[in-house]
Amino acid sequence: MTNTQDYITSNKERFLNELLNLLRIPSVSADSNYNDEVVKCANTLAEDLKKIGLDNVEICQTKGHPIVYGEKILDDALPTVLVYGHYDVQPADPIDLWTNPPFDPVIKKTELHPEGAIFARGACDDKGQMYMHVKAVESMLAKNELPCNVKFMIEGEEEVGSENLGIFVTNEKERLSADIILVSDTGMLANDVPSITTGLRGLSYVEVEVTGPNRDLHSGLYGGCVANPINILCEMIDALQDENKAINIPGFYDDVEILSDEERAEMAKAPFSHEAYCNALDIEDTMGEDGYSTPERGSIRPSLDVNGIWGGYTGEGAKTVIASKAYAKISMRLVPNQDPHKITALFSKHFNSLAPKGTTVKVTPHHGGEPAVTPVDSIGYLSASDAYEKSFGVKPIPVRSGGSIPIVAMFEKELGLKTVLMGFGLDSDAIHSPDEHYGLFNYYKGIETIPYFFEAFAKRMK
Ligand code: BES
Ligand code: MN
Ligand code: MN
Repeated sequence: MTNTQDYITSNKERFLNELLNLLRIPSVSADSNYNDEVVKCANTLAEDLKKIGLDNVEICQTKGHPIVYGEKILDDALPTVLVYGHYDVQPADPIDLWTNPPFDPVIKKTELHPEGAIFARGACDDKGQMYMHVKAVESMLAKNELPCNVKFMIEGEEEVGSENLGIFVTNEKERLSADIILVSDTGMLANDVPSITTGLRGLSYVEVEVTGPNRDLHSGLYGGCVANPINILCEMIDALQDENKAINIPGFYDDVEILSDEERAEMAKAPFSHEAYCNALDIEDTMGEDGYSTPERGSIRPSLDVNGIWGGYTGEGAKTVIASKAYAKISMRLVPNQDPHKITALFSKHFNSLAPKGTTVKVTPHHGGEPAVTPVDSIGYLSASDAYEKSFGVKPIPVRSGGSIPIVAMFEKELGLKTVLMGFGLDSDAIHSPDEHYGLFNYYKGIETIPYFFEAFAKRMK
């Protein structure tokens, strides 16, 4: 594949500028104020797919944000790779915490990215990673070295739960037929320690509302006499975990997949520095479920976190009030065999039972998703391993991640296809946070590695 790699080398600057253009479009899927920008991003991407020579490029309308599709079918006898990614991004808030405006990308050097990193919302999650595939396929097509058929399906609703993509996948099984799904929307251990993601956690996400008295009350007249919903909510949240930080919801662990000692020992071989982990976050120590290491707590064990909590008076100064209502958003990350619907039901039942007399509780489920694991002996995984070994010079380590990409389980259910998660981000890239960034090294390494995957996959499928 030297011609393809030569083409990549001579077009690096343009590949970067094209990504920067995409990053300038604030395609925030969660906020309807940005709907026009989301459409603009889909249009720009569709034009790009046409430009690189894909056929049947289409902007597929959904009830929500559109899906961009394009394909190159060279020969029905060749294997087909379906590339999935997302062009939508998380909201940029809190905007004041960004060093530079989130949709005005700049390149700056960092300790972990001495050759520079692109700072912008979506730089790593997922525009930068998704676009590596567009540029890799462009390069293979330009040099007549594309060894597989390829289909692109890039959605605009990953960050809000992929509900409409689920419907699209169910309805378009024919069009989406393929041999493997290829995704770059995860991370790797370090720039000199490549890894392939072999697991994703599932998600159950709920919003809770605790109601006390029928109106806000004077905290002097009523303080000490009635249940304060905010106090009660805090107590209820506290009761969700025991003193060992295990989750206290009856039945919660019933279906949790238990790893063998051998599997855990294998996992423990991946490099991990507790000190570096703490230093990167400016914390003195980690915290989590007893009996498990930090990498285990964040991948093979479920977790429960409050993502937001509000109620009462939060404005300037002091207002003496007992609020009528208190709210929280709570996420539970799930591991293999846990069913998000079942977990949401268990949570709801238990949370209601925790409410003391004088309060009522409402639990509203939000989107969720199933966990996924991928085998390390499949043709897809082995091809990815070949590819990393070629571009990095070392064999990648299989690592289970804590994040979620709910559509991966759906691909398996609906299309019967396994997914290869070739992520090139770093945990320190601040995805979903202010100052999100993506290393230039990582962007170019991804573009270099992807053609090696296609080559290896075509060979192994023969
Ligand atoms: N790309 C991330 C998921 C991810 C990041 C997985 C890093 C592994 C490593 C994705 O865009 C994401 O943020 N997913 C959401 C779930 C979704 C239902 C909103 C998540 O994990 O919170
Ligand atoms: Mn993502
Ligand atoms: Mn994300």
